[in-house]
Amino acid sequence: MQSSFKPSRRALLGTLGVTAASAALPVSLFAQAEKSGPTTSTVADRDRRMKWWHEARFGMFVHFGLYSVLGRHEWAMEEEGIPVAEYQQLAKAFNPKPFAARAWAKLAKQAGMKYMVMTTKHHEGFCNFDTKLTNYCAPKQAAGRDLVREYYEAARSEGMHVGFYYSLMDWHHPDGARCATDEAARRRFVDYIHGQVRELCTNYGKLDILWYDVAWPLSAEQWESVKMNKMVRQLQPDILINNRAKIPEDFTTPEQHIQAFQEPWEACMTMNDSWGYQAADDDWKSPKTIVRNLVTCARGYGNYLLNIGPKGDGSIPDESTEILTNVGRWMDRHAPVIHEAELCKVRSSQLANFTRNGNKLYIHVHFWPGQTVSIGGLTNKVLSAKLYPDGKPVTFHQEEFRVQFMGLPAISPDPLVTVLEVECDGEPNQDMLNIRKNRKREGVGI
Ligand code: GLC
Repeated sequence: MQSSFKPSRRALLGTLGVTAASAALPVSLFAQAEKSGPTTSTVADRDRRMKWWHEARFGMFVHFGLYSVLGRHEWAMEEEGIPVAEYQQLAKAFNPKPFAARAWAKLAKQAGMKYMVMTTKHHEGFCNFDTKLTNYCAPKQAAGRDLVREYYEAARSEGMHVGFYYSLMDWHHPDGARCATDEAARRRFVDYIHGQVRELCTNYGKLDILWYDVAWPLSAEQWESVKMNKMVRQLQPDILINNRAKIPEDFTTPEQHIQAFQEPWEACMTMNDSWGYQAADDDWKSPKTIVRNLVTCARGYGNYLLNIGPKGDGSIPDESTEILTNVGRWMDRHAPVIHEAELCKVRSSQLANFTRNGNKLYIHVHFWPGQTVSIGGLTNKVLSAKLYPDGKPVTFHQEEFRVQFMGLPAISPDPLVTVLEVECDGEPNQDMLNIRKNRKREGVGI
């Protein structure tokens, strides 16, 4: 399979260092997906199908299931060794308030997100959707209705693209583990999984994303992933499929960290440390960290899928609402810079991060230094500078190794991240080594 990127992007990867807000992370210089086996899409078709997704850039992940009632993380069933017979009693208690998903979709829109991905079935095996293949599903248990349909309709009514998360691993299905060692069990289980994927791709109208998760304990061949995804594409010709059914497909999915890949990528991350609702998890990221992560994704031409874990009644934890409301205020003013960002070569600053659109460089200052912001190593001539989005002109002074933007307010104009828009005479680039090697050293002794 070929890369969908033009050579300039390919060449660029060598200079594309991407950091999360909290730590410096390595860059992947290899096209992992392109080397790891068959896929069911062509590159040309992928470019067409993925256009909206690249522009969307920011999405909401929703982890919702029986674990939301427990409030101790979606892995509680396994990590606490809860017997299946005991755990499944939760299905009698899981009855979220009607149309809880409307508040999720409203919040997503308010935060500047353009798509959503909700768990239709997580590892616990409980299906939030109507399925003919098991009674262990919301419509046939306490909820008495199809929670995926409510989500689908809520998301659509807010103009969101819609994705379904679906866990292949299943801790509840009788064949979910023995399928690895018993061929008859594998046959039954794979038929079950393919059957549910068919239901999801048939019963709701147009679906934008199929987001598989954890393919334990089978290989791609044993899952018959190629066959499954061919079926998916037949039912949903424009769908995007992630890489977690052990074949590469449309995009790759770094988890809980930000890493740029050559192929399309989406970093999925939590707002605290848990995907499913965990009442005691108070390790919340600040709105500034969320904005910084979003900027980091945009700089690397990647997407940011940010999670909420609603409570059992479907309500969103207050902390998540507050964080996303703040992020939304920032997005109200800065959204175009995020959605229209192209891959950006400029990277080095301890007080700012960068995005780019054409010859425009956007300096996202997260640690405001006061009246002067300086950037080293820019190889372009700066033509103009202004505050974004207000457009207030900013004076600047450019020397060989440094550009200084001056006369700025002493206090950061934006409480989270202030953006400067800098027009350059070409695609913005930076050469830090040039500073180290060639900055004048002679005649400056003390
Ligand atoms: C991991 C976890 C799962 C979570 C997912 C999100 O695979 O097992 O609980 O849903 O990451 O990417």
